Amino acid sequence: MTQHTAKIQIDGLSKNYGTFTALKPTHLEVQRGEFLTLLGPSGSGKTTLLQMVSGLVPATSGRLLVDGADWTDRPVHARDMGLVFQHYALFPHMTVAENVAFPLKMRKLDAADVARRVGETLEKVQLSAFAHRFPRELSGGQQQRVALARCFVFRPEVILMDEPLGALDKALRETMQLEIRRLHREFGTTLIYVTHDQEEALVMSDRICVMNHAQVEQIGTPHEIYSHPETIFAATFIGHSNILRGRIAGRDADGMARIATAAGTFSGRFGARDAEAAEHALIVRPEQLCLGPATGPGMNELHITLRDIVYIGSDNRLLLTLPDGTEFTMRQDPARTQGLRIGENLSVHWPQTAGRVVS
Ligand SMILES: Nc1ncnc2c1ncn2[C@@H]1O[C@H](COP(=O)(O)OP(=O)(O)O)[C@@H](O)[C@H]1O
Ligand SMILES: [Mg+2]
Repeated sequence: MTQHTAKIQIDGLSKNYGTFTALKPTHLEVQRGEFLTLLGPSGSGKTTLLQMVSGLVPATSGRLLVDGADWTDRPVHARDMGLVFQHYALFPHMTVAENVAFPLKMRKLDAADVARRVGETLEKVQLSAFAHRFPRELSGGQQQRVALARCFVFRPEVILMDEPLGALDKALRETMQLEIRRLHREFGTTLIYVTHDQEEALVMSDRICVMNHAQVEQIGTPHEIYSHPETIFAATFIGHSNILRGRIAGRDADGMARIATAAGTFSGRFGARDAEAAEHALIVRPEQLCLGPATGPGMNELHITLRDIVYIGSDNRLLLTLPDGTEFTMRQDPARTQGLRIGENLSVHWPQTAGRVVS
């Protein structure tokens, strides 16, 4: 399976345009065969970082190491990397098979090898029947599959993808997410993927690197970031969060902190990277909240007004508001929301250990 696949070390890469900082010095390791996603809002520096790895954009400072070798100044054509972008730029005058054969011909493989590998790869992306069509005779999804095939076919050490599904509609995007994941698993190539879509990142990635304001906020598995966010930004960017902003009122030895907020003082696990930050927040995920007063010690309890009940299929979502306007959501079995009235004041509670105090 895995012929050759590389470990990537991003060692302080940064990018300035004049006085503008597009990316602060960034340290990041991508493991051999890993699927790593750069996730962040528009303008956070994702493309800049990816382009520096590809060699298309020179770095202002820092080094790029691929399997220990310094690739910082290696020209683009001498990097064994496959690139897939949103605008897949197929050659319009070449058939599907010719498009996919192109990188192999560039690498001077003999004709029999080219034919065999093109055939195998088209099969993997389910385009064997389309080998002799031209790009204009394909749907957007099929064209993007050709772009993927053209990238995977030459088995690069590293694949870089920048919002490759951005132009596709939602249903097709979801199909292609699973498809890229399957191809990645099959070929075992180290892959860096860029998206601003958190669901896409959660579905596809081994690890996610959350970016904001030209720097990395947090790196971890989807589960780590969802359940142990280290910043308010990471908590709000991945999954839904309830946020109580306030100031640290005390910390104890077993990793818990108390935080004083407009709605009262609560306890949660201390997980902030910056203990000295001016403002902290307690983060509670919607599924951790329960209706009713606290049932014992080790619980936080909050009094809050029910603003709406929204049916979302498997669950009801309760929308709640604190006196200062802070909004909360929680999930609840529809059977348990009968008899609740909009405008009613409710008690909700959650285990103190389920909340995270971040900055
Ligand atoms: N060639 C350039 N010249 C000046 N500024 C740039 C250039 N390329 C990108 N930027 C700026 O750098 C920041 C990061 O851009 P980018 O990496 O494309 O963000 P993302 O991919 O996360 O949306 C943005 O503010 C963008 O406007
Ligand atoms: Mg971008």
